[in-house]
Amino acid sequence: MDKPLILNEDAFAEVFIPSRVLHRDEQIGELKRRLSPALENRSVENIFLTGTSGTGKTAIAKHILENHFKSIAAYVNCWKHRTTYEVLTEILLSLQVPVHGRESTGELAKKLERVIQTRKIIVCLDEVDRLNDFDLLYLLARNGCGLILISTRCHTISSLSPRIRSRLALTEVEFPTYDDEEIYNIVKDRVEFAMRPGTLKNELLRMASVAAQGDARTALEIIRKAGKKAEFRGLDEIAMNELQAAISETSKFSTMQPLNKLNSHQKILYQILERHRKMPSGLLYDEYRTAAQNPVVDRAYRNYMRRMVKHGLIKSEGKGRWKSYEIIA
Ligand SMILES: Nc1ncnc2c1ncn2[C@@H]1O[C@H](COP(=O)(O)OP(=O)(O)O)[C@@H](O)[C@H]1O
Ligand SMILES: [Mg+2]
Repeated sequence: MDKPLILNEDAFAEVFIPSRVLHRDEQIGELKRRLSPALENRSVENIFLTGTSGTGKTAIAKHILENHFKSIAAYVNCWKHRTTYEVLTEILLSLQVPVHGRESTGELAKKLERVIQTRKIIVCLDEVDRLNDFDLLYLLARNGCGLILISTRCHTISSLSPRIRSRLALTEVEFPTYDDEEIYNIVKDRVEFAMRPGTLKNELLRMASVAAQGDARTALEIIRKAGKKAEFRGLDEIAMNELQAAISETSKFSTMQPLNKLNSHQKILYQILERHRKMPSGLLYDEYRTAAQNPVVDRAYRNYMRRMVKHGLIKSEGKGRWKSYEIIA
């Protein structure tokens, strides 16, 4: 069979914005309602979207900004753009304010302030927990930007301290995990859009939906991989073999596994390290103690760190007081 099964591979890419989003009417309605005053140049509340991975936070935020607030909104992924300088640059460019690249961070902030004085804007910071410096949030909020912050639930508590949260007065909009039926409908819609008719039998689609455990990204990734495998073998549809291979190869069940096994303390430690990349053990422990609700004692902390080293998530250097930890990307 020489005809491709995947007719539009872009539709499976991370940056794809689906034109039809399903099962999120409630969240879409709430976001539209809360953000619409900005269109009349009035202030809006700051919003915090939370939910586990693959619950549609990014897709829905982009969909709404694109369709209703395009001319007054900026979207920045803080995993790609971590510094205040980069984020400000991205925001200004989205708002079509020229930036030549030789400005200081302070000058960029001034530029943005001037824009905001003339009109209300909405800034969406996706994966906000990755920001190097949370003071940026103050800067934006102080100037009256409407903020949409996005983060997975496990990042929510530790990365944004209660102090920052109360200052920003965030309204939380929750994205619950999808059930199997919802995942099925989302994937079915995407398959119809992106694959040759007849590529995937309904019962296999059901299997993939269940395997994804409520994560739409994982479900779509399974289908894309299975499609690639079937194409490679010259088949004219995806068979059980390809699907099963795709399921067992998909990241959630392989590379992500050590991360899923971390306890809540280790997750906080891991997130702090993600932000700093590398830091001395003492500083890491101090920062953990401010972030965790019931921090464990020093000895348990060292135990947790040792186990993360063993899992291959982080590495350590030096000994005793000079020990430091580094994230393995
Ligand atoms: N309700 C939905 N309707 C259509 N596609 C969706 C929906 N929710 C998620 N998706 C798709 O699933 C994938 C993961 O969603 P995403 O928004 O990136 O998740 P999150 O940001 O919550 O981790 C994307 O390809 C997205 O387009
Ligand atoms: Mg996302």
